[in-house]
Amino acid sequence: MQTMRKRSVIKLIGLSALSLAALSACGKKEEPAAPAAPAPAAAAPAADKLKVSFMYVSPIGDGGWTFQHELARKAIAQKFGDKIETSMVESVPESADAERVLRDMAGQGNKLVFATSFGYQEFVQKAAADLKDVKFEHATGYKQADNVAVYDTKTFEGAYLAGIVAGAMTKTKTVGVVASVPIPEVVRNINSFVLGAQSVDPSIQAKVVWVNEWFAPPKESEAATSLINGGVDVMYQNTNSPAVLKTAEERGVYAFGKDGDMSAFAPKAHLGSAVIDWTPYYSKVVEDTLAGQWQTGNFWWGVKEGAMDLVKIADQVPQEIKDKVAKAKSGMKDGSFAVWTGPIQDNKGQEVLASGTVGDDAFLRGINFYVKGIEGAVPGAK
Ligand code: GUN
Repeated sequence: MQTMRKRSVIKLIGLSALSLAALSACGKKEEPAAPAAPAPAAAAPAADKLKVSFMYVSPIGDGGWTFQHELARKAIAQKFGDKIETSMVESVPESADAERVLRDMAGQGNKLVFATSFGYQEFVQKAAADLKDVKFEHATGYKQADNVAVYDTKTFEGAYLAGIVAGAMTKTKTVGVVASVPIPEVVRNINSFVLGAQSVDPSIQAKVVWVNEWFAPPKESEAATSLINGGVDVMYQNTNSPAVLKTAEERGVYAFGKDGDMSAFAPKAHLGSAVIDWTPYYSKVVEDTLAGQWQTGNFWWGVKEGAMDLVKIADQVPQEIKDKVAKAKSGMKDGSFAVWTGPIQDNKGQEVLASGTVGDDAFLRGINFYVKGIEGAVPGAK
């Protein structure tokens, strides 16, 4: 594994046993064996390999967002074999540190670089402006350039599917979300979760607590506690760790896994995990790059493209609700169902989508309000 090793090893301390087991199982395949003899003539010389690097905001053992990116990195390393060489740096803050790491990756010969968090946007732009022979891929951002593409998954589809389950399982009729950083993606996910719950019972109310970070397990846990103390009995989160789920387990309420399959962290509290699979997109980008056909663009893949799913729905969830989830999912796949279909009102009583109107991508990317039933206001929204 061509990784910035010191940092990784330090950060690996504290990984859950589950994450470690899964990652080391994948990692083993990639460890180069000590060369006993000169490499066979057929092996591609290192210089011919496409070097691909990944920058992560949290540790690879977070069990969620970064863990899934790392699984996809392992998957493409295996798929493309000696055509590529991959590396990663984890726990890179969304600060000038990020630009330094990106320049360092380019300096080490990486020609394709994935920057996997929203807050890297300005640093990607700055580095890319100087490093024209490197293709940059920025997750969840919106600023493109000749050598910068942006990409994301439709995490709001997973949030909606989880919401359907939440709507059936809440007894207090109050669901809650531990929210991370107030960007449109996260606001869209909160709303989509609540829309899913209200598709089962329109009277359902929701509370949100913001932690203003992607990965901060103690804060995530505190936020979950305050939601529970406020009457919430089913929670979702947009943070990177299983802390919300673990808190739910301790307090005897329900929650979901997000980004990764978090079922093992809370066997009683877990109702399902809204998982992202980055592998199809990463495979496409590597394939295009190897073929000399990489292009900038804005790529947003969801359930339809196999990038998003709700998995491991708990046994105690009624069959009719499982069927409702399956129906929504198949509608997402064949295009007959869109989460954001009017009539939808914001929590001030304004109609934001008229009856029968489907929100297009521009609408979805600009959501800066809470839907009806959510308490409070989006931070910074007027
Ligand atoms: N975790 C770290 N960065 C991000 C991001 O940009 N989006 C989401 N959903 N989760 C993250």
